[in-house]
Amino acid sequence: MERIIIKNKSSIDKMRIAGKALAQLMQEVASMVIPGASSHDIDAFMERRMHELELVPACKGYAGYRHATLISLNDVVVHGIPSKEIILKSGDFVKIDVVGSYKGYCADMARYFFVGEASPVARRLASVAQLALDAAIAKVAPGVRLSDISSTIQEIVEKEGFGIVRDFAGHGIGKAIHEPPQVLNYGKPGHGPVLQEGMTLAIEPMITEKSYKVRIMSDGWTARTIDGGLAAHVEDTIVVTKDGAEVLTRL
Ligand code: MF3
Ligand code: CO
Repeated sequence: MERIIIKNKSSIDKMRIAGKALAQLMQEVASMVIPGASSHDIDAFMERRMHELELVPACKGYAGYRHATLISLNDVVVHGIPSKEIILKSGDFVKIDVVGSYKGYCADMARYFFVGEASPVARRLASVAQLALDAAIAKVAPGVRLSDISSTIQEIVEKEGFGIVRDFAGHGIGKAIHEPPQVLNYGKPGHGPVLQEGMTLAIEPMITEKSYKVRIMSDGWTARTIDGGLAAHVEDTIVVTKDGAEVLTRL
């Protein structure tokens, strides 16, 4: 396993500024996630506001990606590409994923939104994803093994009868969007690196209504469930503290 970079106070301070700014933008953007808006409109808003808050939209230019955000509807699990052709309608379940960097240090977060009326299954899927993320964050502390986080997520999600996507994972984060370690959303407890104060992780359960299998569309990004079932995704960037975790992407 590659080395996990421990961040000092000044790096963490920058990641916190990035994280809080993104959390603020996620609140602002909620009023735009309405019937008739396009996912391009939402992306353009987020990018403009990031510039105003002195954040660099770190997804733009990453692995050839051309937008500030990833906006995934319904059966799109992650990495939906914003488009003028994707128009939101009542009943849509929308996930917005964004990475912003402040003075070179990144925060990564994803939130979900309901357009108009949400179906009961969308609400249940969303709340289980949130519950899994919150439980995973509550587990984080120095001395905990990384796979204890993974197994916490899997246990909660599978107990509710939902699927855990295997093809994507959370990750370390810092100057780069993706640093070691990979933070799997499934696995047995008691394995992997021991968490230490100053490690920074993006934890991001991706869960499905039916099969956990996904396929990537011909655009090279959009990841959909193979069976058309709904998918939920929520993500926070955290730092391991002396006695637990601080969530950098919440206000
Ligand atoms: N939260 C996403 C991830 O960890 C952010 C990807 S940035 C992109 O996969 F540039 F790849 F889009
Ligand atoms: Co991420």
